[in-house]
Amino acid sequence: MAHVLITGGAGFLGSHTCVALLQAGHRLVVLDNFSNSGPEALRRVAALAGLGVGSVDQWPQAGDWRLRLVRGDIRQREDVEAAFRAGEGAIDAVIHFAGLKAVAESVRDPLAYWDVNVGGSRCLLAVMGRLGCRTLVFSSSATLYGFPDSLPIAETAPVRPINPYGNTKAAVEQLLADTAASASGWRIACLRYFNPVGAHPSGRIGEDPSGVPNNLFPFLSQVAVGRRPALQVYGGDWPTVDGTGVRDFIHVMDLAEGHTAALDLLWSEPPQRLTLNLGSGRGHSVLEVVRAFERASGLAVPYVIAERRAGDVASSVADPALAAARMGWHTRRDLDAMCRDGWAWQRANPKGYAP
Ligand SMILES: NC(=O)c1ccc[n+]([C@@H]2O[C@H](COP(=O)([O-])OP(=O)(O)OC[C@H]3O[C@@H](n4cnc5c(N)ncnc54)[C@H](O)[C@@H]3O)[C@@H](O)[C@H]2O)c1
Repeated sequence: MAHVLITGGAGFLGSHTCVALLQAGHRLVVLDNFSNSGPEALRRVAALAGLGVGSVDQWPQAGDWRLRLVRGDIRQREDVEAAFRAGEGAIDAVIHFAGLKAVAESVRDPLAYWDVNVGGSRCLLAVMGRLGCRTLVFSSSATLYGFPDSLPIAETAPVRPINPYGNTKAAVEQLLADTAASASGWRIACLRYFNPVGAHPSGRIGEDPSGVPNNLFPFLSQVAVGRRPALQVYGGDWPTVDGTGVRDFIHVMDLAEGHTAALDLLWSEPPQRLTLNLGSGRGHSVLEVVRAFERASGLAVPYVIAERRAGDVASSVADPALAAARMGWHTRRDLDAMCRDGWAWQRANPKGYAP
């Protein structure tokens, strides 16, 4: 059993990864300021893992030491130190999800993105270095690849982000490279996610965006559940199989398992810095996803073809061979499973975690 600090653990990807890590037997401390989530997700994580509800009370009140919550900000040194204290000085690794992730918002407010994503990572690394915790898994993104020269995209493809969000992810990857080179003992995995979607198969936890969703899947499921009139499909004239954009969708539980695999690899080998794609290697067009979602839900999903969005690419598909070779990890759940589980979550929780 290891002690793992999860920043942003109440968010979409963090909450599902908490379930996978608890099932793998680890003890977790979640550090989250709830700027884009709430404690209800963690209560449900605890229930799914068979823990007492009291286990997600805010530390130091919590008695159960499988899942502790520290409400705090990754940019505040005292908050990060409090999270390490909640781990009783025995944090073996950090998984760093906390950050801002909306591309359009990053264009409007780049300072916020550099502050939280880069400044927050800098603060976290400083505390880790000082307290002697040198194992880190970082949430990076396929957005780093910008307009790719060829498909599928391997980790060796040029890093050419095209928006402030992507610039901050590239900056943190560079910061991690510089940090790893500055002292021995760092074990770092940058995981470049493609398009994580779906939900835990229980339908108890899932993606709960605030406001109008930026991403296809939550928009689609909100249309299906009647919260929005029609799906906007951005571009019907891309050079793809049916004219709509093609993406590499990955079930959120496959992504969660990618994190347990990354930790196992980092712990089993000498210190190193790794960069790995987490994707399926298969692309699906927006209209293929709509049809799969209709099959899963039994509902018709109205859509309209709108103008292309600036900064979108026609196709983005991962080459996942390196993750398979290094971690023995590959996706196990297909598009139908993503739609089935995503729909189970949305149908049971039409307003997300709101009562
Ligand atoms: N979801 C995706 O499609 C996707 C794709 C590629 C990369 N990523 C990256 O993965 C990570 C997690 O994404 P997600 O979809 O779960 O997002 P999310 O917004 O659901 O989760 C992020 C969590 O971090 C918390 N947080 C934000 N700022 C914080 C701060 N300053 N201090 C403490 N906590 C803070 C939020 O409250 C939230 O719980 C992000 O870094 C994101 O950039 C996500």
